[in-house]
Amino acid sequence: MSDLFYVTSPIYYVNDVPHIGHAYSTILCDALARNARLRGAEVFFLTGTDEHGQKIEQAAKARNETPKAYADKIGGEFKKLWDDFDISYNRFIRTTDSDHELGVQKAFEIMRANGDIYKGEFEGQYCVSCETFWNESQLLEGGACPDCGKPTELLKEENYFFRTSAYQDRLLAWYASDESLILPKSRRNEVIRFVENGLEDLSVTRTTFEWGIKLPKSANDPKHVIYVWLDALMNYVTALGWGTDEHNMRFWSNATHVIGKDILRFHAIYWPAFLMSLNLPLPKRIAAHGWWTRDGAKMSKSKGNAISPREVADAYGLESFRYFMLRDVPFGQDGDFAEKALIDRVNSDLANDLGNLLNRLLGMADRYFAFNVAAADLPCFDEEKKQIDAIAATLDPLFEAMQMHRYLEELWKIFAIGNKAVNDFKPWEKMKTGASDQVAELLVFMANLLLKGALALSPIMPKSCDLIAKSLGVTIDAPTRRSLIDRAEWIASFTLAAQPPLFARIDAPRLTEIPTNAEEKANLITIDEFKKVELKIGSVIEAKRVEHSAKLLLLRVDLGEDVPRQIVAGVGEFYAPEAIEGTQVCVVSNLKPAKLMGFESRGMVLAIEDKNGLRLARPETATANGAPIK
Ligand code: MSP
Repeated sequence: MSDLFYVTSPIYYVNDVPHIGHAYSTILCDALARNARLRGAEVFFLTGTDEHGQKIEQAAKARNETPKAYADKIGGEFKKLWDDFDISYNRFIRTTDSDHELGVQKAFEIMRANGDIYKGEFEGQYCVSCETFWNESQLLEGGACPDCGKPTELLKEENYFFRTSAYQDRLLAWYASDESLILPKSRRNEVIRFVENGLEDLSVTRTTFEWGIKLPKSANDPKHVIYVWLDALMNYVTALGWGTDEHNMRFWSNATHVIGKDILRFHAIYWPAFLMSLNLPLPKRIAAHGWWTRDGAKMSKSKGNAISPREVADAYGLESFRYFMLRDVPFGQDGDFAEKALIDRVNSDLANDLGNLLNRLLGMADRYFAFNVAAADLPCFDEEKKQIDAIAATLDPLFEAMQMHRYLEELWKIFAIGNKAVNDFKPWEKMKTGASDQVAELLVFMANLLLKGALALSPIMPKSCDLIAKSLGVTIDAPTRRSLIDRAEWIASFTLAAQPPLFARIDAPRLTEIPTNAEEKANLITIDEFKKVELKIGSVIEAKRVEHSAKLLLLRVDLGEDVPRQIVAGVGEFYAPEAIEGTQVCVVSNLKPAKLMGFESRGMVLAIEDKNGLRLARPETATANGAPIK
């Protein structure tokens, strides 16, 4: 690792209060920053708020406030949350900070001077919510935004444009230069495909609202404000003093941007193009994480199901929350916040595997050795020690590749080795037979193991790991890490200290239930409930009327099984048997068999009902019998 490390979170829009998606981004960055510091790097960690743009202007207006007063309030909530969460940022930038505004104007000036910004006319569909223009082919039905689904509006303005198109080849060459530049790799491919399809120049000013950074004086065009994304992206360098006081710009040599998948295009295409235009080096890594849902549903303000990170941390403890978020979801994939999953993690991983191991060590150390344990270097646990050092050696690359869930999974193997060693060794029996030197050996082994584990876990659970280390009489710092993890050393003696259990078992959920209105609750089914219904395509090979019934037809339907099924269908008033024979239908194939007018029916044929009566639901084109409907 280079000696300098720069990590940035996205800067958050202030039109919404913080939810767990925001917390995830910030906690990921915090873990990266803490890990780099523990490895001896000099770190600059940036977070902050994105305060300009039409969306914020509108939100402020709706509350009868000035945009600045509104941004002060909500931006303040983000900052307070990160402070209460002990997020180890070095700067909390606001895009209304004067050094940032100056830097953005300077960037505009340079880009204009070198011919990358020019004036033109723009007409297009604009999504205010995403602050993005879309062309016709990208819009959803009815002109809705392909990202958020909200209606877009037609905007026609005289704008300044950035010549993104001029950077297509250089961007492609950049992506090709490093496979891990954009993580996860699947997203890197998406970006490459998008750029290969051709880039359009980007409109980088607006005249339809006022809440933004004005163009530099040299442009002499006071109607325009700078597009919020040009403004926002620049924060990554203005925060280091670019354009004003550049003394922190050295961190720019090793920059990692952590973002959500929805804003990858801005970071992987426009941002590097802006940097190229400014003749600045490019970031080393853009890591795009997935989205969090709650109990399988997208979180949103209107549904009222967004989860407050503060509420989760208050209910379960901040460090358990951090652990859960990083352990439960593979980086880059969407994650579901289910309270039960959080409880299971706390109980099994934290209370049981880790917490109990520490309690066992401290209990025995107290009981048998008055907390002072020293090993006589007996040939005990040599195999386990080798295994532990081998696991520890695999951890760093996983962290660097943003594979935190794998990192933690591997790390937990170390605790499992510890728990197994105690169970197999049965120290309580050894004490009875007077083999206390062997028991001391075990306890020294356990203390080393827990210390190595705590050193590796510390970036994710810093406070708990400090307490673990304290109870082992050691401090978590870069030299200890270097000795125990990098050089795989083992300490020969410890003076331990009592420590109340760190993780209590959780018996019942602690969060307030999601407020769904009663009607919605009654109608909603989960995807798992839906999946229970088996739907298949079948061909009607025979159809006849059921005697004395106008409604019922007796069908034999080929569902691709060995024997065709007999199904009674209530469509006789709308279809003659001969009109159905030889056609394809859609069938619920796992319905419990029932008898209708004396005939067994093993399935149900689907039909559509409206004011004209019933029509059969059918596949659009001829389809294999038995093909599933999903
Ligand atoms: N202001 C821009 C970012 C500018 S960076 C130069 C922005 N802000 S945001 O507040 O809308 O989103 C901030 C981050 O939160 C984004 O990375 C986004 O992906 C993330 N999340 C918002 N909702 C989320 C979830 N439900 N789950 C995970 N992260 C999500 O975009």
